Amino acid sequence: MAVRTVDFRSDTVTKPTESMRNAMANAEVDDDVLGYDPTAQRLEAEMARIMGKEAGLFVPSGTMGNLICLLTHCQIRGSEVILGDNSHIHVYENGGISTIGGVHPRTVKNNEDGTMDLHLIEAAIRDSSFEILYPTTRLICLENSHARSGGRCLTVEYTDKVGELAKKYGLKLHIDGARIFNASVALGVPVHRLVQAADSVSACLSKGLGAPAGSVIVGSKSFIARAKILRKTLGGGMRQIGVLCAAASVALQENLVKLEGDHRKAKLLAEELNKIKGLKVDSAAVETNIVYCHILKGSKVSRTHLCKILEQHGILVLPEGPMRIRFVIHHQISESDVHYTVSCLQQTLAGEAEENGDIKHLMNGFKHNLYL
Ligand SMILES: Cc1ncc(COP(=O)(O)O)c(C=O)c1O
Repeated sequence: MAVRTVDFRSDTVTKPTESMRNAMANAEVDDDVLGYDPTAQRLEAEMARIMGKEAGLFVPSGTMGNLICLLTHCQIRGSEVILGDNSHIHVYENGGISTIGGVHPRTVKNNEDGTMDLHLIEAAIRDSSFEILYPTTRLICLENSHARSGGRCLTVEYTDKVGELAKKYGLKLHIDGARIFNASVALGVPVHRLVQAADSVSACLSKGLGAPAGSVIVGSKSFIARAKILRKTLGGGMRQIGVLCAAASVALQENLVKLEGDHRKAKLLAEELNKIKGLKVDSAAVETNIVYCHILKGSKVSRTHLCKILEQHGILVLPEGPMRIRFVIHHQISESDVHYTVSCLQQTLAGEAEENGDIKHLMNGFKHNLYL
């Protein structure tokens, strides 16, 4: 049986801390659909302040946050949104903008760093004089940090340029900021400055910040007023949500400062994995808390086999693609957990080379692991 659990599957897997549970137990609450929950109101105001926008709205998830923002910007059916072909909204959100909102996605290729080339964005904007044929472009979406690019950050200069482009064509700019705080910390740019060019941002509290649930969307007062109606339509209006917002406030107070350490641990993991024969990490691409580890061709271990052995040692990861494993760092993973993981992998790959697949032999070796 595994002697410890190290859960790298995502930064969404964290358990609420003791202080979050206490805050939840003692939260002052009321009916938020009627607009009276004081804890929700405080959290929304605080998030709007931190992000430099007029107002905020608590929503159950990042997916709903993005959906509400996109549909609020694109109230006319047949509107078109420009977004990355590798963006979370396009790949992982069930095509909700189309199926629920009647919004047409126009994808632009995401570069490896999560950006889209400005000239490609500009070329994707429809010529409104042909509206008899084309959908009407109304919105550009960015994602920061960019999950499927390994948590890479879009700089403030890049974001501003996309904002200028949007303005030039009378479009709105939305940022999927599920991990915007990670990006802000990694870039050393205050979050309000990083999202200054955006008309709306959806920021997750349940990822790196470690709250049990929830996101907050921010924007102008009139935008949030319209978003609130849509939240109700989508079934996202909840009653005594102060219970969740209290935990999220603690997450903001206590865990924001831990993100820098998470990024350091991610770098450490990347550098150590790179020393192991058969594995490859692009360390330079590890800018925040996500590490993509490639299993090199010719390695004696398959991805499935490697994940299985790690699991037997309490190390949980997510396979991504046939030859890639994803590690995500969060505040409940320690430096010692990173060393333990590296040690397990070292022994696995060394053992595989010697024993050519004798898992039992390897398992015995792990019993003597130093990093317990
Ligand atoms: C970049 C990004 N946006 C949005 C989401 C959706 O968040 P949720 O899982 O809370 O719906 C995720 C979730 O992992 C994400 O990584």
